[in-house]
Amino acid sequence: MPQSKLITMDEFTIQETRKFPQATGELSTLLRDIGLAGKIINKQVRRAGLEDILGKHGATNVQGEEQMKLDVYSNDIMIDIFMNSPECAGIASEENDDHVCYEDTFSANSKYVVLFDPLDGSSNIDVNAPIGTIFAIYRRVSELGKPCTKEDFLQPGNRLMAAGYVIYGSSTMMVYATKLGVNGFTLEPSIGEFCLSHPNIKCPENGKIYSINQGNSSKYSDGMKAYLDYCMENKKEENRPYSHRYIGSMVGDLHRTLIKGGIFMYPADKSSTKGKLRLQYECNPMAFIVEAAGGKAMCNTGNILDIVPTELHQRTPIFIGSKNMVNKAMEFVMEKEVVG
Ligand code: AHG
Ligand code: MN
Ligand code: MN
Repeated sequence: MPQSKLITMDEFTIQETRKFPQATGELSTLLRDIGLAGKIINKQVRRAGLEDILGKHGATNVQGEEQMKLDVYSNDIMIDIFMNSPECAGIASEENDDHVCYEDTFSANSKYVVLFDPLDGSSNIDVNAPIGTIFAIYRRVSELGKPCTKEDFLQPGNRLMAAGYVIYGSSTMMVYATKLGVNGFTLEPSIGEFCLSHPNIKCPENGKIYSINQGNSSKYSDGMKAYLDYCMENKKEENRPYSHRYIGSMVGDLHRTLIKGGIFMYPADKSSTKGKLRLQYECNPMAFIVEAAGGKAMCNTGNILDIVPTELHQRTPIFIGSKNMVNKAMEFVMEKEVVG
C-alpha cells in the first residue's frame, strides 16, 4: 500500500524501540547495519550480467557446495559491516567453516551475535530469479567484556531477538521480525532507503500452494508421499489440487508463502536423512518470521524453534507456512516418517 508520507525503516525501528523504555537502541543499530549491507549487495546484484560478477568463484565452502562469485562478495560485505558495527560481538556464516568472534575490546562488550546466509538461492543467480540474504540475531549468553564464544551461536531459535531477510526480486525488500511482529520495507531506489510498504504482515492460516522439490519424491518416506498425493487430490471445496510453485530459493519461496499463504517443505529423504536446509541461518530465522506472522514451522519431531543446535552447520527437515496447512502435513509426516 502506498504511504502518504514515506516511513523509512530507521524511523519505523526507532518508533518501535520507543515502546520499550528500557531498550537501548542497539538492536536498531544492527538492523540498520543489515539494511546497509543489503543495499550494497543489491547494488551489485542489479549489475549482474554487466560486470564479471556472475558465475562460479572456483572454491567450495565447508559444506562442499560450489561458491558463486556473488556468494563470496555478499559474505565479504556482511563480515565487513559487522566487524565495524559497535553492536556485534561476532558472526557465523554459511560460507565460513567456523564462527568468528571479534577480539577487540569494543566488540567484547557488544551484546549481540549475528548468523547469516549471505546469499540464498545461489543456483538462481545466473538466471535472474529471486535471491536473498537471511539473518538471525541473538543476544549473547557468554560473559560481557570478553570475546563471544561458540555457545552464543548454538542457541535455539526460540531465543532469537530478531530475524529477517533481504530479497532481491522484482523489487528489493527487507523484511524483519521481532516478537512485536513482522514488517516489510521496499527499497525506494531514488532515495536509497527501505520504506515501510508491508506493515504488520500476517501469514494467512490457509493457502492454495505447496512448494517442494518434487523431483526428489521417489526418495521420500511413505508419509511424505501420501501428503503429496493429498496436495494433488481433487477436492474442489478445499481448493485442491493445490498449485505447485518452487523457485528453488528459500527466500523467494518463503516470501511468497508469507504473503499469500501456502506451505514450503524441504523434508528428509533416503539420501539426505537430515534434509538439506541449515538450521541456524536458514530454518530458524525463517521459522521465527513465519511464527511471528501467525504461521507455523515444524521439523519431523516438533517445532523448529525448539531444536537445540549442536553444530554450526547442522541441517533439519522443515515444513513451514500457513498454520492449517502445516498442521495437516504433520498429520501425514509425523505418523509415518520413516525414511529408508
Ligand atoms: P544456498 O544458495 O544458500 O546454498 O541455499 C539454497 C537452498 C535454498 O535456497 C533452496 O530452498 C534450496 O537450496 C533448493 O534446493 P534444491 O535445489 O535441492 O531444491
Ligand atoms: Mn541458503
Ligand atoms: Mn547461501
